Amino acid sequence: MSEIAFIEKFLRNNQDYTLAKYAARQELTITSKSDANDLLTEVDLTLQKRAVEEIQQAYPGDAIVAEEGEFSKYPENPGDRCWIMDPIDGTNNFVRGLFPIFGISIAFAKQGSAVAGGVLLPATGDLFLAERGKGATHNGKRARVSAIQAVAKGRLDIDFSTTRDRREMVQRAAGIMYKMGQIRCHGSAVASICQIASGDIDAYLHMSLSPWDYAASQLIVEEAGGMATRLDGAPLPLFDGGKGVLISNGAIHEELLGLLM
Ligand code: IPD
Ligand code: CA
Ligand code: CA
Repeated sequence: MSEIAFIEKFLRNNQDYTLAKYAARQELTITSKSDANDLLTEVDLTLQKRAVEEIQQAYPGDAIVAEEGEFSKYPENPGDRCWIMDPIDGTNNFVRGLFPIFGISIAFAKQGSAVAGGVLLPATGDLFLAERGKGATHNGKRARVSAIQAVAKGRLDIDFSTTRDRREMVQRAAGIMYKMGQIRCHGSAVASICQIASGDIDAYLHMSLSPWDYAASQLIVEEAGGMATRLDGAPLPLFDGGKGVLISNGAIHEELLGLLM
């Protein structure tokens, strides 16, 4: 099976389970990780376990990087063939019922570059898929970024994350926040980045994103005509050690970089 077919199958197969758990979220087993707002549920663990088992069976020997437990530690170059997964992105929204915006994200990378990726937003059923050089789809139709040409007319998702890098965000993003047409804060990196690919949002900013938060959605956005860089405008590598990211429809990227402090 091709990697993109594997990704699509896994995402579709796990939608009902995730939604059933979301509906019964009052009964979830929830613990916290790095701080009181960094949550972990049994659903994160179950989805990751299922993906790891299925990848190991279908593609023995491939490296796996994923947010939870031992899989979150990765060397600078985790191998020629590597899977990168976020079992639930937006766990806080999942637990508290916000919007509801949360996603399951899986990417497959060759020689350090994502070549296939998929994101499912289980609550709405929105499915984003992309293969390098072949374009991106949103619910089976070609996904394209917006045609917005100016920051003043654009919509930014500013992702404030935990308290850890709030000060840096407030200082560095002030210029963008003063000028941006509209500002949203959804609390799920993969959902927001994919919504740049569908043209609903024009830019996304985060001060310290992890590889599993953007591996699939970066590819999806790029294949939809958008752009992803580090905060200094340099290309965004797959394993960037948790630094900042700026992702946009491409047309307003230079203007955004110029406004960053
Ligand atoms: C989080 C979300 C959030 C971002 C955090 C991430 P998680 O992922 O993407 O939007 O601000 O930095 O950790 O923990 O829900 O998988
Ligand atoms: Ca995440
Ligand atoms: Ca997660």
